[in-house]
Amino acid sequence: MTTLIILAHPDIEASRVNRRWRQELLLHPEDVTVHELYKEYPDWNIDVPREQRLLEAHDLIIFQFPLYWYSYPPLLKKWLDDVFTHGWAYGSSGNKLQGKKLGIAMTIGDKKENYLPAGSVSFTVDEIIAPFQASAIHVGAAALPYFAVFGASFQASDDEINQSAVEYLEYILRNR
Ligand SMILES: Cc1cc2nc3c(=O)[nH]c(=O)nc-3n(C[C@H](O)[C@H](O)[C@H](O)COP(=O)(O)O)c2cc1C
Repeated sequence: MTTLIILAHPDIEASRVNRRWRQELLLHPEDVTVHELYKEYPDWNIDVPREQRLLEAHDLIIFQFPLYWYSYPPLLKKWLDDVFTHGWAYGSSGNKLQGKKLGIAMTIGDKKENYLPAGSVSFTVDEIIAPFQASAIHVGAAALPYFAVFGASFQASDDEINQSAVEYLEYILRNR
């Protein structure tokens, strides 16, 4: 069974890091299935039964996105609102995500040392992704530790980005 990557980047062609990560993932179709929300749904009209079937067919699901305003890009938020429905994901008969593993792979523009209580951001990454962790708990799934590359706006060199692509794949394989 492959790992499902829900990739949400509003402008992947202009991306440096997510595009490089996607290139690495696409070399391993036996291990990962890459599902690009902005490509699949340019009109934002999400096919909910199709998405739910896709999720049901995978045990490890990774949400990959650039951090925008300390959160997900908006189509991923809409996707969660639409797809994680009552009676399917939660509620007395909603158990379809129970026991699955959910992970986050983020590119973060700012430097790592700023994501500390005493840093310029004032919050850690774990604090910022608390809504994701709470959502995983709500649907009975396990939230994996996040994977991230920092300095993704300017600081990260090509070598560091290439290295992060390799480490991203290792993160996926280690957690399945
Ligand atoms: C609308 C917008 C909001 C952003 N918000 C943040 C932010 O809250 N924190 C941060 O560290 N970087 C932020 N950034 C920088 C992005 O995280 C960074 O450009 C991205 O991760 C780079 O990945 P890419 O090369 O795949 O696009 C933001 C960028 C944009 C365009």
